[in-house]
Amino acid sequence: MSRVALGAGNLEWRKVRRAQLARGRRALNDVPEASLQSSDEGRRFWSRRTWSELAAVPAVSQVVLALVREGAAVEALAAYTTIAQDEARHAALSRALAERLGGYDEDVPDGLDYEPARLARPSDAPYAVWALANGCFSETVSLELIRARHAATRHPVVRAVLAETLKDESLHVRVAWLTASEVLPNLSPTQRRELWDYGQALAEMARRTFATRGLPARLRRHEARLRDGAAAAGLGALPAAHEDALVDEALATITARLGRLGLGPAR
Ligand SMILES: [Fe+2]
Ligand SMILES: [Fe+2]
Repeated sequence: MSRVALGAGNLEWRKVRRAQLARGRRALNDVPEASLQSSDEGRRFWSRRTWSELAAVPAVSQVVLALVREGAAVEALAAYTTIAQDEARHAALSRALAERLGGYDEDVPDGLDYEPARLARPSDAPYAVWALANGCFSETVSLELIRARHAATRHPVVRAVLAETLKDESLHVRVAWLTASEVLPNLSPTQRRELWDYGQALAEMARRTFATRGLPARLRRHEARLRDGAAAAGLGALPAAHEDALVDEALATITARLGRLGLGPAR
């Protein structure tokens, strides 16, 4: 007979669940009706936001699959399946904003790393790997960017979407670091070294997806102009140089937090 080893979560997981439930059920797309002028930079910036949120859905689903393979607590499964739902909603909200700003772009330009289909390929990478990639890196960088964009954005419709996303992302980050605090200290020194190296690759990826700094020169100029334009129009972006600096700051914070959990460069 097969054995199902899903454990019971500790108090922290139950607190996370309560906080998620307190957010309640929300419509997939409830962008406020107030008027919004068309903007080419705005619609293209929010198309990119949509691709990024869409890529988070398979990434979080990979965490769920790895959790089941490794017999994690059912409370952790509930937390991550709720996060997957949030990411689908962020994609729907971002897409609706892109539509309202003049039209959603379906086609991802060559060279930009937003590939939901690739992230959805079956993977046997352990929970720790997906938790680090999706949680510690993507969620933390995403939260810092969205926090700063929300603080700088005055347009009420765009601000409402950023505010909704911000509330979810801060919970996602809480889940990510709760997971990390449970998983990382139990790894062997070899696993930690490997995971640290993988973390360096994730940092580079963050610099060319969340930021523009890691992109090839021509594409970088193009993407930076787009963000600068959306920032000047007050449509939810910050100037590219500011966003690049924020991503670097978030990466430095992640490095420090990982260090406290025993993940760092070989000494
Ligand atoms: Fe999201
Ligand atoms: Fe998230």
